Amino acid sequence: MESIVLKRTGQKMPLVGFGLWKVTKSSCADTVYNAIKAGYRLLDGAGDYGNEKEAGEGVKRAIKDGLVKREDLFITSKANNDLWNTFHAHDHVKALAKKQLNDWGLDHFDLYLIHFPIALQYVDPNHRYPPEWWGDDGKVHLQNTPMQETWRAMEELVDEGLAKNIGLSNCAGSLLLDVLNYARIRPQVLQVEIHPYLTQEPFIELARILEIPVTGYSSFGPQSYVELGASKDAGSLLQSGLIGGIGAKHGRSPAQVLLRWATQRGIAVVPKSNSHDRLVQNLKCTDFDLTQQEMDQISSLNQNLRLNNPADIDPRLGIFA
Ligand SMILES: NC(=O)c1ccc[n+]([C@@H]2O[C@H](COP(=O)([O-])OP(=O)(O)OC[C@H]3O[C@@H](n4cnc5c(N)ncnc54)[C@H](OP(=O)(O)O)[C@@H]3O)[C@@H](O)[C@H]2O)c1
Repeated sequence: MESIVLKRTGQKMPLVGFGLWKVTKSSCADTVYNAIKAGYRLLDGAGDYGNEKEAGEGVKRAIKDGLVKREDLFITSKANNDLWNTFHAHDHVKALAKKQLNDWGLDHFDLYLIHFPIALQYVDPNHRYPPEWWGDDGKVHLQNTPMQETWRAMEELVDEGLAKNIGLSNCAGSLLLDVLNYARIRPQVLQVEIHPYLTQEPFIELARILEIPVTGYSSFGPQSYVELGASKDAGSLLQSGLIGGIGAKHGRSPAQVLLRWATQRGIAVVPKSNSHDRLVQNLKCTDFDLTQQEMDQISSLNQNLRLNNPADIDPRLGIFA
């Protein structure tokens, strides 16, 4: 299994992991168990996905059956729902991380990310969990919590052994540079949306210079957003003639080509599938190489089309503006 070595801890993060967003809750434990059986070693979860307990059951069963040991797995969660936005205030960070670890049945995460750099008013988990974006009145309630405060709390999670590595998700260069000004523990991984309609070259180049590994999410572009009615009318990448043609030349599916376009540049991926055949197929995406011309052709599909943008929920959440 190809992996990326994380600088501070020397831990190996697999280049291909399994994404848990919208993995059906009722079958999540079995899906995770079977994903591990198929060879996945990285699981990418989040409190917001509402299935951490079930994912943890799958992990527990896989360990009990001797498929893997805990140390063979790399488990990512997102602060709050990954430090979901409502938990940014310092005191809430640790409580949330502990709750999420308890849901998974783990004593540490291998990677804990700030899901979105947005602070929302705190919601007690007993009142509503995951808290999601909206208050009881259906409105978004912002809170004034500086990122420096949240990052300090994230660093304390590392100090206490609750997280081996910490990082940022959905960040732009300006935020990353700011965090680096005060970080005692630098972000170890950045997780952002990357696919051929949103190629993000400047961000990837900045991360390369700063020597911080990047995970790209939503590798299949609009596909994940169709079921949410949020695909912004973008044409399917999985049905694109260009991607299909390149796949045919290599005897690979369009999904494998899209994943290889990322992994060949050292960008980690975390494809999600509720289908066992498709998740097996997705894991086999690093044993062939695209030509430079094919890589460039795929990159030329870029439209700077961001599918996961909180500003679509509320314009005050314009973190990418
Ligand atoms: N940090 C963040 O804010 C953030 C945001 C979004 C996602 N993520 C992470 O990234 C992961 C992946 O992103 P994503 O879930 O948005 O989408 P994705 O992996 O790009 O795409 C998933 C969609 O593609 C389909 N699919 C999967 N494999 C396929 C294949 N081989 N052939 C054809 N269709 C296939 C799936 O349907 P089936 O399930 O029916 O196969 C599903 O509709 C998430 O699960 C999550 O862990 C993080």
